[in-house]
Amino acid sequence: MTVGDVNGRPASVLVLGGGYSGLRFAQALTEHALPVAVTSRRQPAQPEALTPWGSAGSALPLRWLSFDPDNGALPDAEALDGITHVLVTIPPDGQGKDPVLEHLAPLLAQLPLQWIGYLSTTGVYGDHGGRWVDETTPPAPGASRSRARLACEQAWDCSGLPVQIFRLPAIYGPGRCPFQNLLQGTSRLVHKPGQVFSRVHVDDIVGALIHCIGLPPQRRPRIVNLSDDRPCPSTESLGYAAHLLNCKLPAVERFEDICGGMSPMALSFWVENRRASNHRLCHDLGYTLRYPSYREGFREALAEERRTAARGNGDQAA
Ligand SMILES: NC(=O)c1ccc[n+]([C@@H]2O[C@H](COP(=O)([O-])OP(=O)(O)OC[C@H]3O[C@@H](n4cnc5c(N)ncnc54)[C@H](OP(=O)(O)O)[C@@H]3O)[C@@H](O)[C@H]2O)c1
Repeated sequence: MTVGDVNGRPASVLVLGGGYSGLRFAQALTEHALPVAVTSRRQPAQPEALTPWGSAGSALPLRWLSFDPDNGALPDAEALDGITHVLVTIPPDGQGKDPVLEHLAPLLAQLPLQWIGYLSTTGVYGDHGGRWVDETTPPAPGASRSRARLACEQAWDCSGLPVQIFRLPAIYGPGRCPFQNLLQGTSRLVHKPGQVFSRVHVDDIVGALIHCIGLPPQRRPRIVNLSDDRPCPSTESLGYAAHLLNCKLPAVERFEDICGGMSPMALSFWVENRRASNHRLCHDLGYTLRYPSYREGFREALAEERRTAARGNGDQAA
């Protein structure tokens, strides 16, 4: 890990949006003894209360800041003093604008920033009929939220800040796997001929971000896809999850029979079909995936979910 030092001074990290990926990234950095500030719209009485996942204890405590522009809560210059690296996980707001650029751009411009990572989505590529897309594929977003996302990417590009854009497919990991739904009998096994989904394990997001921070600035591409090696139908990944749990799969349903009852959000995922290439990340930039497919990822996520549950039971018994 080479994010620890900037011109002889320690790096200091700000994570804008301490949600699923943001918190996992923050915790990984504190375990390397880096100071990390994380924003939330909620005021956690206990920071750990925000997520049941992640390590039991970090080397350094996270510093929580309030960033809730809709309610006028913004961090001030003093709170951001000395920040050198920023990760932005916050999606476009209800108006399709980037909340960070709208409210913090002048403050960010004052900081000694070495790197800003912006988490975007492979949704900006639009539908490609199941073909591979890479960072050279011209964006052609179909969904309105993906058009907003592309506009936010472009706004970051024009900000004059040292931004690197990371495009993500479906994020999974502990707490974001199909296990719970399978056990509760609420999973649906939907078949649409030729349909695949790309995925990435949250710890490969974290690992790839840290890898890119460690590269010399001139070797950091403007855009990097973060995805695993194995896009596949959701029937395949759900089947494997059921195998790990040793539980039965629900009956297969044909997409064409049930699409009329799907929510607009769910439908928007099914009407687009593409495979997101990680060639740039894994070949050009030399990152090695911890979880090349959902198979390794699901196994480890289930193990972590079980460890977390056992820890929780232990806490209750104590
Ligand atoms: N989940 C996926 O499968 C997926 C796939 C592709 C791309 N992405 C994108 O990748 C990024 C990270 O995903 P994730 O699943 O880790 O995100 P997440 O868990 O939903 O976390 C998002 C964070 O952003 C904060 N936030 C959202 N809107 C905000 C606003 N208007 N003002 C201030 N803070 C705001 C949330 O704050 P609170 O904690 O206060 O709610 C939360 O901390 C997101 O931009 C997401 O859209 C996600």
